[in-house]
Amino acid sequence: MVEEIIHLGHTMIGCGRNKTEIALLKRRHGVPHCFSALDIASDEQVKCWSTSVFRSYGAPDLVLNNAGVINRNAPLWKITAQEFSRVLDVNVRGTANVIRRFLPAMLRQRRGVIVNFSSGWGRSTDPEVAPYCASKWGIEGLTQALAQELPPGLAAVSLNPGIIDTRMLRSCFGKAAGSYIRPAEWARKAVPFLLKLGPADNGKQLQVQGVSERRSRGSEGCRSATTKTKAGYSSARLNIRLVSGSQTFNLRQRKISAG
Ligand SMILES: NC(=O)c1ccc[n+]([C@@H]2O[C@H](COP(=O)([O-])OP(=O)(O)OC[C@H]3O[C@@H](n4cnc5c(N)ncnc54)[C@H](OP(=O)(O)O)[C@@H]3O)[C@@H](O)[C@H]2O)c1
Repeated sequence: MVEEIIHLGHTMIGCGRNKTEIALLKRRHGVPHCFSALDIASDEQVKCWSTSVFRSYGAPDLVLNNAGVINRNAPLWKITAQEFSRVLDVNVRGTANVIRRFLPAMLRQRRGVIVNFSSGWGRSTDPEVAPYCASKWGIEGLTQALAQELPPGLAAVSLNPGIIDTRMLRSCFGKAAGSYIRPAEWARKAVPFLLKLGPADNGKQLQVQGVSERRSRGSEGCRSATTKTKAGYSSARLNIRLVSGSQTFNLRQRKISAG
């Protein structure tokens, strides 16, 4: 997502917890882009981050609440209280932290879009992912209520991104994740869709179209499944860390930010 957003000429500000991968991102994409290592579950860390973002960039035009975690596959009664809390802390409280710290400046500029990443499991359920389902159903409710609070000019939407071969999908689908779309290909479809969102979309429960289907067996992608999966996975990991670590984006056309 990072690569695609920057490729389309926007300024991006992102975060993730992994310092090594944030440093990689910084090396790859210098000023005006900006990446910071922090944990969105900490309101204090998000507060410091937002202060430094406002100082250099002003309010974001588009916030992508993409960071998320999933529980290891297990029935609810076998999931520890700590693991349950961590999923809710990142997926729901983390999203709320980002909104709390960034939305006031967007309200002042009277424009901006917030996209809260939901899931198919925010609108349906399966066994062994109850904490994650609870968090994503929570995101759907939080987004609907927020949309009702926003004044004209702003929008909050929830987004089911589809099924993508990422580190998270590997955690719940295992090797079968390899038959789903790769992050870079997903970004080519999803980013233009995200960039078009505006006030008229407020409150919508959106889905990125055309990315949930498995890549067809016998197609080029699956023929060399082993090598493809291996190579694809490591590049997917890299993309995810680079991309999803970039949790909030400040997007401006280059000519505007240059001005
Ligand atoms: N992949 C799918 O098929 C799928 C389907 C439906 C919904 N989704 C949703 O799409 C979003 C992205 O998922 P993904 O598949 O790309 O997951 P992923 O591969 O696990 O990547 C998650 C990203 O979030 C960052 N992150 C996690 N916790 C964080 C925290 N506390 N603070 C800051 N950054 C944090 C991670 O970076 P660090 O580890 O460096 O922090 C990583 O870059 C999630 O909200 C997920 O629920 C994904």
